[in-house]
Amino acid sequence: MKKVVMLSAVAMLSLAGVAVSQAEPTASATASSVAPATSATASATASVASAPTPAKKEEIPQDPPQVQKLIALYPNLIARIAPQGKVCFEGKECDITIAAQLGPADPNNPRDGKTIYEGVCHTCHATGLLGSPKFGDKASWSARIGKGKTTLHNNAINGFNAMPAKGGKADLLDVEVTNAVDYMLDSVK
Ligand code: HEC
Repeated sequence: MKKVVMLSAVAMLSLAGVAVSQAEPTASATASSVAPATSATASATASVASAPTPAKKEEIPQDPPQVQKLIALYPNLIARIAPQGKVCFEGKECDITIAAQLGPADPNNPRDGKTIYEGVCHTCHATGLLGSPKFGDKASWSARIGKGKTTLHNNAINGFNAMPAKGGKADLLDVEVTNAVDYMLDSVK
């Protein structure tokens, strides 16, 4: 059973790559020929649907957490291919341009919030991609502002659900990330 779980995770990863290159989802075919019960597609759906009826004594594959982790990693995968191009989601408008023009951080010269926002955060937060709170949109920020600035700073630095740590650009200085958070918060004052 362990093996089956691993395979489906691998299939998900390949699918993430496949989606980018727009090839056929051959990975899932391979995986399901070995593990007929658990296809990558099935487990992806499972994580979206509410939890299935609680397991009894029988050991069941712990797919949902793994799949959730993969989904959480997906923005990082997108960010990693950023220098090569943009990502298009099937059936969605292809307008996600990943900004890769931001150079490496210089500890002696932290960049301001606007620069970081436009270089990194804007990829998701300009449009509310993946459910992110949208720049300038008070409604999507109000509940978050209630958590307090420190929490928002920390969540931006460390990551929070589908929000990747430092927006997926790991070399950003902490202060650069908090600058960007403050810049976004200024937009909804
Ligand atoms: C790959 C997309 C993506 C990028 C890039 C990104 N974010 Fe996010 N961000 C999200 C998503 C999705 C959420 C909502 C997460 C949730 O509430 O589950 C979020 C939420 C947040 C929140 C609210 C956290 C909270 O506790 O409610 C802050 C603050 C934030 N992002 C800051 C930033 C900053 C600063 C950057 C740039 C350095 C950035 N984000 C880049 C996707 C992204």
